[in-house]
Amino acid sequence: MQTGSADAVLAEALFQPADLGGLTLPTRIAMAPMSRYKCPDGVPHQGVVDYYRRRAESGVGLVITEATYIGHPTAPSYEHVPNFFGPAALAGWENVRNAVQDAGARIFPQLWHTGSFRQSWMGPAKGVPGIGPSVNTNAFTNHPEPTKAMTDSDIAEVVEAYAQAAADAQRLGFDGVEIHGAHGYLIDEFFWSRTNRRSDRYGGDRRERTRFAVEIIREIRRRTGPDFPVSFRFSQWKQQDYKVRLGETPTELADILEPLVDAGVSILHASTRRFWEPEFPDESDLTLAGWTKQLTGLPVIMVGGAGLDRPGLKEAMPASLDVLEKPLKRNDFDVLAVGRALLADPQWAHKAREGRIGDCRPYTKDLLDTLV
Ligand SMILES: Cc1cc2nc3c(=O)[nH]c(=O)nc-3n(C[C@H](O)[C@H](O)[C@H](O)COP(=O)(O)O)c2cc1C
Repeated sequence: MQTGSADAVLAEALFQPADLGGLTLPTRIAMAPMSRYKCPDGVPHQGVVDYYRRRAESGVGLVITEATYIGHPTAPSYEHVPNFFGPAALAGWENVRNAVQDAGARIFPQLWHTGSFRQSWMGPAKGVPGIGPSVNTNAFTNHPEPTKAMTDSDIAEVVEAYAQAAADAQRLGFDGVEIHGAHGYLIDEFFWSRTNRRSDRYGGDRRERTRFAVEIIREIRRRTGPDFPVSFRFSQWKQQDYKVRLGETPTELADILEPLVDAGVSILHASTRRFWEPEFPDESDLTLAGWTKQLTGLPVIMVGGAGLDRPGLKEAMPASLDVLEKPLKRNDFDVLAVGRALLADPQWAHKAREGRIGDCRPYTKDLLDTLV
């Protein structure tokens, strides 16, 4: 693989300060949220603190934490995911927050409800079924149980749990929060017509299907005030179907994004697997990040494949940043989030700046076993 001075020039552009909706970041590089399943009892320990600190010390301007469970019994599915509620977990997160900010970076927790991926035998609240907009069987198990369709009071409770987590993040000194509205989890299930078949005010056309997200955003705004940075991560693709798209045209995409902006999000995080791909090739070669910026005018985080040669969870080799050139020139994004390349090598950003991407540790599945 040829990397070198051209990559160093591109990486240098990422080492400029960024203004993300009123929040100044020391660099334009974010660590993408990545679940690590290394927190027994949902509590981040010293190993987690050091893991994030290493990235913050090495050129990452914004850490978006792995997804964390909000405080509702139906939120968790998987074991050893950190909570964002309860004294022990919040104290652990405060240590992470301190370490990252001491190193000069900013930090948002990512707030998560797994929706109908949950089964009643999963997570701490055994016996409690997964919930979703409608009765679905989304879980990746051999015999998935049908989800319970959420009642109005379920919705009110989950909205409150998101808002409480955001208010706690603000109280603990975090620089903002990210709402996980992507990849087929609860909020995205409301967006998607296949999983949202409701006939009440939470269902209907694209704009109507954003109501649940809108209520969460509004309540977070009400509790945290007008200036607290709130990022919203969305994706066209779902884990259940990588080919499906929320918006087949820019107008349809705007139908999803505009209500979120009106409700008060300050940053949009456009989750793709290859950031450089044109989103609507019949229209232009603009990326999803570029369309998101054009349609909403908000600061945008771009993500997907930075510094690696392929998507996926198995393995990927270091790759040139040349695909960054066009989105950078065209100002498609404000911040580039880097996932697996940073998971594999905490020094990725510095090595990229020096034109040494080829020296970065490749991404391999076995790295998921430890917090390097
Ligand atoms: C191990 C792993 C865990 C992930 N966990 C999350 C997560 O908790 N929340 C989320 O929104 N995305 C998650 N993702 C997706 C990443 O944030 C990112 O969008 C994806 O890896 C593509 O970026 P990359 O090619 O730079 O890795 C995860 C990805 C990986 C590889």
